[in-house]
Amino acid sequence: MSSVASQQRVLSGMRPTGRLHLGHYHGVLKNWVKLQYEYDCLFFAADWHALTTAYEDPRGIQQSSFEMVVDWLAAGINPNACSIFIQSRVPAHAELHLLLSMMTPLSWLERVPTYKDQQEKLKDKDLATYGFLGYPLLQSADILIYRAGLVPVGADQVAHVEITREVARRFNHLYGREPGFEEAVELAITRMGKKTARLYTDLRKRYQEAGDAGALATAQALIRDQQNITLGDKERLLGSLEGGGKIILPEPQALLTPASKMPGLDGAKMSKSYGNFISLRELPDDVDAKIRKMPTDPARVRRTDVGNPEKCPVWQMHEVYSDDATRQWVQQGCRSAGIGCLECKKPVIDAVNAELAPMRERAREFESNPELIRSILSQGSEQAAALAEDTLKEVRAAMGLAYR
Ligand code: TRP
Ligand code: SF4
Repeated sequence: MSSVASQQRVLSGMRPTGRLHLGHYHGVLKNWVKLQYEYDCLFFAADWHALTTAYEDPRGIQQSSFEMVVDWLAAGINPNACSIFIQSRVPAHAELHLLLSMMTPLSWLERVPTYKDQQEKLKDKDLATYGFLGYPLLQSADILIYRAGLVPVGADQVAHVEITREVARRFNHLYGREPGFEEAVELAITRMGKKTARLYTDLRKRYQEAGDAGALATAQALIRDQQNITLGDKERLLGSLEGGGKIILPEPQALLTPASKMPGLDGAKMSKSYGNFISLRELPDDVDAKIRKMPTDPARVRRTDVGNPEKCPVWQMHEVYSDDATRQWVQQGCRSAGIGCLECKKPVIDAVNAELAPMRERAREFESNPELIRSILSQGSEQAAALAEDTLKEVRAAMGLAYR
C-alpha cells in the first residue's frame, strides 16, 4: 500500500512495562480495542524505546514485553483484527531511523519538551546518550515506516507526532523531487481525463493562491478516488497540490486519547510506581481487599459522620463504573450518612470484578499457551515487515540507494 491508500492506517506503540493495570485499560487499551474494528491497526511493544532508559540493565525488557502483550490480548486486542508485534522484530524501523537521522537537525530533537523533562525526572539515570536524544526520531520512524495516517496517543506524546510531521515534510521536500517532476505531474493530470483534470487544476489554484483548505481536501479526495492512474502518479499529484514534490512519507495526525478518569486506589493517578493500582489479572479477592482498604473522605471518621463524595477517591470510581441511579444513591447516602463506606464500595468492587472477569479468563488461556503468543507475534511482525518493506523500497529509491 502506498501513502495514498494508507491514511486509514492506525499505528500505536507502548513501552513494555510488564503487567498492565486498570489505568492502562481505561486510558489506552479500551480505545485500541475500539479502533481495531474501525481502521487497519498496528500495535507494537516499543522495546527499543525501553532500551533508551534501561540500557544499563536491559534484561527484563523481553519478559516485560511478553507480559504486556498478554494483557493486550486479555483486554480484547484481537490478533485477527489488527497486527501485534515487537518493534525489534521489525528491523526496518531501525533502517528508516538511520536514514532519517541524516537529515534531522539536532536542534529539532533538543527542543522536544520530553527530552529535558525526562532528564530532569529520571535524575538517577545518565540520559546524556545518543539513543535518548534520538527517542522521538525513532518514534517518527515507527510511524512513517507504515505511512500511518492516525496515531492514537495521550497528550504527553503529541509533541512526538508533531516532530514526525516536520521530519516527513522535510524528507518529502528533500527527496520527493525526482528529475522531471513537473512534466510527470502534467502527464498525470491529463491521464485523469479532461473534466477531472480541469477540476484538479482549479482546486489546486484555489488552495495555492487563496489558501482554501476546503479545496485542498476536495482535491485530495478526488485524487484518492481515481481508478485509472498509478499510485506513483497519485503521490505526484498530492505532492504538487501542496507545492512540493512527491509525497513519499505522508504526515500523520495525532488522534488524541482523552485522559482517563480512572483514579488510583489513593485518588492520585493510577501508576505502577505509586503502588496504587489494580492489575488486569488481579484476583477477585484481591480486588475486594484493595478497594475495601481505599481511603475515603477523611471527614467520615465514624459511620454517623456525613461525607462529601468530591473528597473521596471511591466517588471517582463510581464516576467510571456506576449508572445514574447508583451515583445518586452514593451522593445522597454519603452526604446524609445514610450509607456506610463499605456499603458504598460494594458496587464498585462488583463492577471492577465484572470488568476483569473476561480478561482474567483470556489471560489464563494465553499464560498456559506461550506458543500461541509467539505465533501471534510472529504473524504480526511478518505483516508489519511486509508493509515496512514497501515504504523502505521507496525511501531507498528516493535517496539514491536502490542498488540491485
Ligand atoms: N513513546 C511512546 C510512549 O512512551 C511509545 C511509542 C513508541 C509510540 N513509538 C511509538 C507511540 C509510535 C505511538 C507511535 O508512550
Ligand atoms: Fe466515599 Fe462513599 Fe464513603 Fe462517601 S460513602 S466517603 S463516597 S466511600
